[in-house]
Order: sequence, then C-alpha cells, then structure tokens
Amino acid sequence: SIKLNFLKDNRWKYLTDGLLMTLQISFFAVIIGIVLGFIIAVIRTACDMTGKGKILNFVCKTYLTIIRGTPAMVQLLIIYYVIFSSVDVNKLFTASIAFGLNSSAYIAEIVRSGIMSVDKGQFEAGRSIGFNYIQTMWNFILPQAFKNILPALGNEFIVLLKETAISGYIGIMDLTRGGDFIRSRTYDAFLPLIAVAIIYLIIVMFLTHIVSCIERRLRIDV
Ligand code: ARG
Repeated sequence: SIKLNFLKDNRWKYLTDGLLMTLQISFFAVIIGIVLGFIIAVIRTACDMTGKGKILNFVCKTYLTIIRGTPAMVQLLIIYYVIFSSVDVNKLFTASIAFGLNSSAYIAEIVRSGIMSVDKGQFEAGRSIGFNYIQTMWNFILPQAFKNILPALGNEFIVLLKETAISGYIGIMDLTRGGDFIRSRTYDAFLPLIAVAIIYLIIVMFLTHIVSCIERRLRIDV
C-alpha cells in the first residue's frame, strides 16, 4: 500500500507524461509520413504520366501494398523486435519510424489522388513556360493539390494519433499505457481509462477544429 499511496499522489503524472509521449510520437511520425508520402506520390505520378521508371513504380506500389495490407501493430512489432533488435535505439525513435512509415503509405495515396485532381492543363502550362517536372510539381501542382487533400491529411493525422495507442506493446508509456498503468496499480479502472478517452477526444476535436479553420481560409484565397 506504500506503492498505492505513492501512485495516488503521482497519478496524474502518468497521464501527462503519457500524453507528452503520445504527442511526440505523433509529431515525428507525421513529419516522416508527409515527407515520404509526398515523395512516393510524386514518383508514382511521374512514372504513370511518362511511362518511365517501371521498376521504381513497382517498388513504390509493393511498398504501399505491404504497408497498407498488414496491421500497424504487426509493423510496429517487426520494426522493434526484428529490424532494430540488435541495435539499442530509443523507443520514441522506433515508434516514430514505425508510425511514420505506416502513415506514409496512406499519405502517398491521399497525395496521389490530390495531384490527379488538379487539371492536366496546369501541368502543361507550367511546362510550357519552361519549368521542369519537379519545378512544375512544386510551384503549380502541389499547392493546388494541397488545398484539395487538406481534409484527408487532417483526418490521417487524427487516425495516426489514435493509432499510437498501440505503442505500449513495445513498452512505451504513452497516454493509453499510462492510463492502463494507473488502472493496474490502483484497481480503479473507471477513472483513469475514462480520463484517457477524454484526453484523446479533446485533442481530436481540437485538431478537427484547426483543420476546418485552415480549410475555410484556403477556400477564401482561391
Ligand atoms: N489500425 C489499422 C491497421 O492496423 C489501420 C491503420 C490506419 N493507419 C493510418 N495511418 N491511416 O492497419
């Protein structure tokens, strides 16, 4: 019961520390996901449009199929126990990589559909005034695509943040694990778990709000 009293005093710390961990994993993962996802999407559209780089396109497609066809949970375990098994890497780093790679596959498809939603004439316009493929993509196509895919990207970030709840499986004290730890030590399940749920809900509602604000602004400056 010494332990119990100790925990009662520090109960909230498991939630605040866990929340910080959840936010850190999500933040790093979304950066990895966006960078990799955009690269894959641009490569894939370039290959599809020019008919060149068949092998590269095949590699990208295979990557997307594997990542989207297997549970994020299994990917996390493989990255931690198989790929990084012999090296002593930080768990936050491991989880960020795992969730980043997982998200990149979903983001790649979101971005690709965004690029395809931009009128082909925009591409020809860019090329005709002397921009190369990458420049046209960066200056003309992606800004317009971004506007169309923003809601889907926001949604992906929300899914990613909630998905990090499985981080406890590699021994990370994230928000979910923190709440569950309190449950296991205090024998009070209701309060900590409901608190965890409410914290996720507040973050998700906040993110949803931010995305709809940005969306409204982007619609105005067409
Ligand atoms: N939980 C499901 C899985 O394990 C869905 C993951 C979806 N992830 C995402 N970033 N959209 O595969």
